[in-house]
Amino acid sequence: MAEFSQAELLHKVLNTAQREGDERVRAIVGRIVGDLFRAIDDLDIRPEEFWAAVGWANKAGAGNEFGLITAGLGLDRLLDIRQDEAERARGMGGGTERAIEGPLYVAGAPLSQGEARLDGDPEQGRVLFMEGRVTDVGGRPLAGAVVDVWHANTRGEYSHFDGGRQQPYNLRRRIVTDADGAYRYRTLIPSGYGVPEGSATGDLLGRLGRHGRRPAHIHYFVSAEGFRTLTTQLNIPGDTYLDDDYAFATRDGLVIGLERHADPAQLAARGLSEPFFTSRFDFALPRA
Ligand SMILES: [Fe+2]
Repeated sequence: MAEFSQAELLHKVLNTAQREGDERVRAIVGRIVGDLFRAIDDLDIRPEEFWAAVGWANKAGAGNEFGLITAGLGLDRLLDIRQDEAERARGMGGGTERAIEGPLYVAGAPLSQGEARLDGDPEQGRVLFMEGRVTDVGGRPLAGAVVDVWHANTRGEYSHFDGGRQQPYNLRRRIVTDADGAYRYRTLIPSGYGVPEGSATGDLLGRLGRHGRRPAHIHYFVSAEGFRTLTTQLNIPGDTYLDDDYAFATRDGLVIGLERHADPAQLAARGLSEPFFTSRFDFALPRA
């Protein structure tokens, strides 16, 4: 029989008559495709609209844009909200707030003990000395924790994603905390950035009347044996988009303070000719 209703069609798509395949996948695909069937019906989506959307999705896929799109549609933040709620329900709160990972992490950055310099390319920018400790939620230091940090350069570009304009692993390092749980690094304060011009992501956001800008931020994974790995971002204060991030990643507790230093003796001690900045941030991890 080759004539069937919408409901019968969905059953055929999902192969519900058989016990073969993966039930979890069947449940998820069934829900999403069923909702899509209903959306096409309810909104009377026309064939030309449908095929334009397929073309858009193909362009997004060809450009590896889905990590940008999920962030812009709030799905990354939704997962964080759900994890926050689940941890609160289990009484696991108290650690540093999480924030979205984003699609621009690269594993295997150079590993160093206690401290690192993140910037390796010749670049003009505001020098930042960052330091802090990794502790448990009770403030006890975690020695041997790993602070895996990555951020954009002063043009808002990430190494490995800028067509080779920066050296490999520029502005990406892993720092092992010392006996006091302390880490410190030197870097250049990053700039914010936006989704690429002419991208499928930018097209979608434009049709929603939105921009695709992110405020300046520094990404982290902070991990220690026996503790829940923290995925987070620290924001640079004063950015225009601090409270208007297209990816919804800003958290109130994650905006750092910046102290500016212009004293000639301090500059000389650091071997610098321009004013520099210092900041401190402690990360607290809940037990796994
Ligand atoms: Fe980022």
